[in-house]
Amino acid sequence: DINVRYLAIDFSKSENLKKLAEALPMCEIDGCNRIYYLATSYKLFPDILKGLKKFHLLSRSDKFNRVVFEKPFGENLKSSDALERKIHDVVDEKHVFRIDHYLGKESVQNIVALKFGSKEFTKLMEGDSLQEVEISVDESLGVGNRIEYYDDFGAVKDMIQNHLLQLLALLMMDKPKKMESKYIHDEKVKILKRISFSDVGNSLMGQYKGYASELGRKSKTETFARISLSCSGKCKGVKIFLRTGKRLPKRYGRIVMKFRDPKNKIVINLQPDPDVEVKMHGKKIRNIDLCPDCVFRPNSPDAYEVLIKDVINSDRKLFVRRDEIHEAWRIVDSILSKRKRIPFVVYEDCSEPMKA
Ligand code: BG6
Repeated sequence: DINVRYLAIDFSKSENLKKLAEALPMCEIDGCNRIYYLATSYKLFPDILKGLKKFHLLSRSDKFNRVVFEKPFGENLKSSDALERKIHDVVDEKHVFRIDHYLGKESVQNIVALKFGSKEFTKLMEGDSLQEVEISVDESLGVGNRIEYYDDFGAVKDMIQNHLLQLLALLMMDKPKKMESKYIHDEKVKILKRISFSDVGNSLMGQYKGYASELGRKSKTETFARISLSCSGKCKGVKIFLRTGKRLPKRYGRIVMKFRDPKNKIVINLQPDPDVEVKMHGKKIRNIDLCPDCVFRPNSPDAYEVLIKDVINSDRKLFVRRDEIHEAWRIVDSILSKRKRIPFVVYEDCSEPMKA
């Protein structure tokens, strides 16, 4: 039986959670299986949590208090670290699930399967002959009715801080000791710690024509970014480009890996038609269908289904750990602190007209 009820609550005051408490039985007494999914501004998270606690909506028995947090998780390193402290005043890390829906996409999970599934691929993808990695997530849609939110964030905070850096971490990480949550997160953090930004000259930001009139005022917010990053340690010398934008000609997600020998190349298409092409010595040697049954719809309801099931099963592999968020904001703060020196262009809205 599915039982859905809708209750409108103003979450800006924890007092208002009383309404929810009146509609639900008390957890402290009952002990109950509940998941709270907070898909709202991160600024409201602490008050919502306080309210849940105050009105006994979190189980004291530790049995099943799961709280899912939708991105953005803060707006810079400082606010994100402060948010973490406030969250941990109320709930334990073991109850916290930070969602990044890209990790729920089957084609994204398949990157790990591809990399570590065969020695041949591990060797190829990790070899010291890797020279360049470019991860692109282009969108043909604009910002739609989220424009007020988007204008405060922009492409770097909206996409690079989370989805693209997560893709990079998965792609570049070493093989985890075991394919268990803790070890996967440890390896992802190791990579993120090695990433830094200084190459303003090879980075670019832009805004599509018409954005300001959609917004109704002038704005410097970037709707496109191509950021050049570098890596230290094992991946020293590998050039990394992360690229994303709105109102571009096509919607696609793609990873291109180039090697010292320019005749070698791996292309991983993530969406809309996930596959992998491997070229060695200029010849196509492999073409693997990554996700034959996947259907890619905007905002990926299929990915959310996977992740919600994982919350129920308390499987944390596909969620983002606290230190990953910290490292991602460190990188993004560094990019944005130098934004005045990054070239900025206005580009044509190249999206295909919406079909009636
Ligand atoms: C969201 C961003 O996280 O991801 C949106 O906030 C973006 O701006 C969306 O459009 C893209 O997701 P997908 O699954 O459609 O590629």
